[in-house]
Amino acid sequence: MKLPIYNCYHPILRKKSTAVTGFDEKLKNFTNNMLETMYGADGIGLAANQVGDPRSIFIVDEFSGDISKRSPIIFINPKISLFSDETSDYKEGCLSIPKFYEYVTRPELIQIEYQDLNGVTHKMEFGDLLARVIQHEFDHLNGVLFFDKISSIKKTFAQNKLRKIEKDKFTIHYDMLNRNGEYIKASD
Ligand code: CO
Repeated sequence: MKLPIYNCYHPILRKKSTAVTGFDEKLKNFTNNMLETMYGADGIGLAANQVGDPRSIFIVDEFSGDISKRSPIIFINPKISLFSDETSDYKEGCLSIPKFYEYVTRPELIQIEYQDLNGVTHKMEFGDLLARVIQHEFDHLNGVLFFDKISSIKKTFAQNKLRKIEKDKFTIHYDMLNRNGEYIKASD
């Protein structure tokens, strides 16, 4: 089941996530809904609070658009244990911030510990685009949005665009909930 995606100005996007404790069928169903929502919106990452759930869960799939290559990873209770000194710049977007893109500087490589759907702990290293998406989604679990990380001058230039996003003055191809939790039907 596809879920509506919360607008970045809804307060749940600013809340810190809570630990997952029950590794059961319900958790599996919820992450399936997250996957369906992410693929339906053509995203490559989605955090649980973006669909209104405060738990420490996010999903990524850099091949989202290409059905034959899809390979989702589900991160539960993740913790980034290492960041590389080397950084890179890349233009990011976010399903909660429709049609807004800006360059963000981030470490190129990370090491992350997380649990899978069975509660088994994994320790993995990621680089390139996946490392970036994982850091972006991990930020969501701490109530951080990518536009918090852009320079204040760039944010000043983007003010009008962000104000339109805050006031629902945009069109997008997936269902959203606005900052007051009101349903905004896909219109693009
Ligand atoms: Co995002």
